[in-house]
Amino acid sequence: MEHVVLSFLLASAVILTAATVISGERVNETSATAELVWSKGKLESDLLSKPEPGNSDYLSAGADVDDHDDLDGGFSSLDGVLRWAIGHSDPAKLKESAEDVQRLSASELQKRQLEIKELIEKMNMPSDAQLMQIAIDDLNNSSSSLEDRQRALQELLILVEPLDNANDLNKLGGLAIVIQELNHPDPDIRRLSAWVLGKACQNNPVVQKQILELGALTKLIKMVKSTSIEEAIKALYAVSALIRNNLSSQELFYAEAGDTMLQEILSNSSSDIRLHRKAVFLVADLVECQLENLARAESPFFRNRFFLKSVVDLTASTDLDLQEKVVL
Ligand SMILES: *[C@@H]1O[C@H](CO)[C@@H](O)[C@H](O)[C@H]1NC(C)=O
Ligand SMILES: *[C@@H]1O[C@H](CO)[C@@H](O)[C@H](O)[C@H]1NC(C)=O
Ligand SMILES: *[C@@H]1O[C@H](CO)[C@@H](O)[C@H](O)[C@H]1NC(C)=O
Ligand SMILES: *[C@@H]1O[C@H](CO)[C@@H](O)[C@H](O)[C@H]1NC(C)=O
Ligand SMILES: *[C@@H]1O[C@H](CO)[C@@H](O)[C@H](O)[C@H]1NC(C)=O
Repeated sequence: MEHVVLSFLLASAVILTAATVISGERVNETSATAELVWSKGKLESDLLSKPEPGNSDYLSAGADVDDHDDLDGGFSSLDGVLRWAIGHSDPAKLKESAEDVQRLSASELQKRQLEIKELIEKMNMPSDAQLMQIAIDDLNNSSSSLEDRQRALQELLILVEPLDNANDLNKLGGLAIVIQELNHPDPDIRRLSAWVLGKACQNNPVVQKQILELGALTKLIKMVKSTSIEEAIKALYAVSALIRNNLSSQELFYAEAGDTMLQEILSNSSSDIRLHRKAVFLVADLVECQLENLARAESPFFRNRFFLKSVVDLTASTDLDLQEKVVL
């Protein structure tokens, strides 16, 4: 049954894309297409009842984006869904359905597109808020297995991407629950929790404030020092998302010795390159923010020669992206 639905959705994605291309319409990402795309993402996360950690192409693609900047990595376009679906499909079958679609004329395609849209509407999908509630309940249940928790966090990671959903998370009590998971004994649960928090507050001052008020910054700064490198990377991602463009939260960051934490990463030649890179990006952000607000604040960075030296040393790095950021 699951397989049938999945195939149907995949074929739908192929047809919808082809129809859009042929009719020359631009996909309006804020309207019905986006809803459709979302419904599909939801269904698939329900269907893939137990995703293997580390075996999700979509999620790791998101991680790559995060490594460079904070552009969104989710299902923001039909193309994104398609790539995700392709990553989870049988290549032979996929080729077959793509060839089938190519045999259809433009009007046939448009007719199919309408039929599919009607069908999907009839399927009576749960709302994003309902899906978030299910994930939160799973996290807030001491009997949930490790796999249940992982799945719940991976679903939240996708669900919190739209601004409205991120804003709903706290109303549902979800932020406090996810912050609690930062203390879980399993490093992968901690990693996913930090990631969800970073995603939820990225470019979102409302959620930034909520997370700060729940006191998560101190914990996240500690997590950056974890011996699990993946946990450290996501923790630093969350810290960066949390204090970006907000002087008062940056003051809290300095008070919690966040600058010392960055120094340690930058001056340690055996630090992981991804962690190094995130640290440089954060420094560049902080410096930029300080420069824009010179009148109000004094940057501890400019007063610290040791720190400046470690940034300058990085210009010797072989990583071009990193060099650019350091020069900035
Ligand atoms: C997309 O849809 C939104 C809301 O329905 C509308 O305001 C906007 O103008 C549309 N954009 C394009 C490019 O059609
Ligand atoms: C907690 O999880 C267990 C095992 O999955 C389940 O049987 C139980 O109904 C859940 N409790 C609540 C309150 O949802
Ligand atoms: C978590 O579960 C407890 C009962 O075990 C309940 O009182 C609380 O409201 C739940 N929190 C959320 C956010 O659902
Ligand atoms: C910065 O964060 C504080 C809470 O730490 C909040 O009160 C304030 O409104 C935020 N400022 C901006 C510009 O987002
Ligand atoms: C430098 O980083 C490595 C790898 O993360 C770590 O094992 C080591 O303890 C660090 N050294 C210092 C002085 O912090």
